[in-house]
Amino acid sequence: MLAQELKYIRDAGLYRSFRTMESASDAQVQVESQRLIMCASNNYLGLANHPELMDAACNAIRRFGTGSSGSRLITGNTQLHDELEAALSRFKKTEAAIVFNTGFMANLAVLSTLVKDNDVIFSDELNHASIIDGCRLSRAHVVVYRHNDMADLEDKLIQHVQTRRQSNPGAEAQSFRALIVTDGVFSMDGDIALLPKIVELAERFKAWVMVDDAHATGVLGTHGGGTADYYGLPAERVHVQLGTLSKALGAEGGYVAGSQVLIDYLRNRARPFIFSTALSPGVVATAKAAMELVEREPQRRTRLQDIARSVREGLTLLGFRVLPGVTPIIPVIIGDPQRAVDFGRRLEAMGVFAPAVRPPSVPAGTSRIRLTLMATHSDEDVHRILDAFARIGSELEVIA
Ligand SMILES: Cc1ncc(COP(=O)(O)O)c(C=O)c1O
Repeated sequence: MLAQELKYIRDAGLYRSFRTMESASDAQVQVESQRLIMCASNNYLGLANHPELMDAACNAIRRFGTGSSGSRLITGNTQLHDELEAALSRFKKTEAAIVFNTGFMANLAVLSTLVKDNDVIFSDELNHASIIDGCRLSRAHVVVYRHNDMADLEDKLIQHVQTRRQSNPGAEAQSFRALIVTDGVFSMDGDIALLPKIVELAERFKAWVMVDDAHATGVLGTHGGGTADYYGLPAERVHVQLGTLSKALGAEGGYVAGSQVLIDYLRNRARPFIFSTALSPGVVATAKAAMELVEREPQRRTRLQDIARSVREGLTLLGFRVLPGVTPIIPVIIGDPQRAVDFGRRLEAMGVFAPAVRPPSVPAGTSRIRLTLMATHSDEDVHRILDAFARIGSELEVIA
């Protein structure tokens, strides 16, 4: 059975296997003896091997050891964990924050803890897998709205919230919770959620808003605070701001920032928080040092935006179908999965690491090369990336 399914996956060109990195995550990496320009990492600001972060990790390990040796509520909580959460709430301008072991776990935790089977979740159709799984775990009624389509969201809120409240004046119908959840920056398309409109609709329908800033933390907003920061929305209008420490912050772990009562509730009720060993001291110290750098060096964000703009413009001028946006996630649509894989292999032969992304990560027919850029890419790197795309695009007749 399993072997048969694997054969099906192989035949469909969707088989996945590892690539092995032989150097630190940087703008250029060593992959299986080859030096390549890295265009597929989430290390947006180039912090994952920054000397300050590595020093912070080493110092923390020397002082607190390598493992935390217990869950936060038993023995795993250190001064570093407390400091990281305090720094996160300052960074996100919220009353409080809590860290989880991964962003994936944070989504599972929040959705399964805050939302119950009588409640309703409105979820963008392109939300990350961890949101989808969190929705399933909550057992709430899940209503999927079309990607970033605010008219569709409004229609669905009318249908599932307004009508339910109006048609049933009983206490049960009045007390259910409605929650709208969206990625801040969509991981595969690289566009940004229309958060001000979502917040407006949420206030009208008395719903909660939850935003997953995995790809926005450190990247979007004047202070790198994420999607709310990008739109200048005050923190109290976005009930749950979730994110990961593993992308632009170059560490590992997930976080939730929000009101004190929300964070206290999660600390007391969220099973993935209560029943899992705390993040290790080295990782916690790394994330904290990264946040200091993000605030101190806004030029990293500016450089990232400039590079992303040049590559987008360059690819569009060459004739590629590039999904519109302003973030460092640049999807170049190829279509067929095998052709996308072939494109990725040829890029690699020309020194650019940007493997194809295929279903089920993206919808059928939209297999793509998903470039992610870093503040530490040089102008020469950008030139080489565009040159490789031009040559392979012509060879495979993706461009005229
Ligand atoms: C939108 C989104 N949410 C959550 C996650 C999960 O974060 P982590 O890798 O920290 O588990 C990811 C990353 O893969 C993501 O892209």
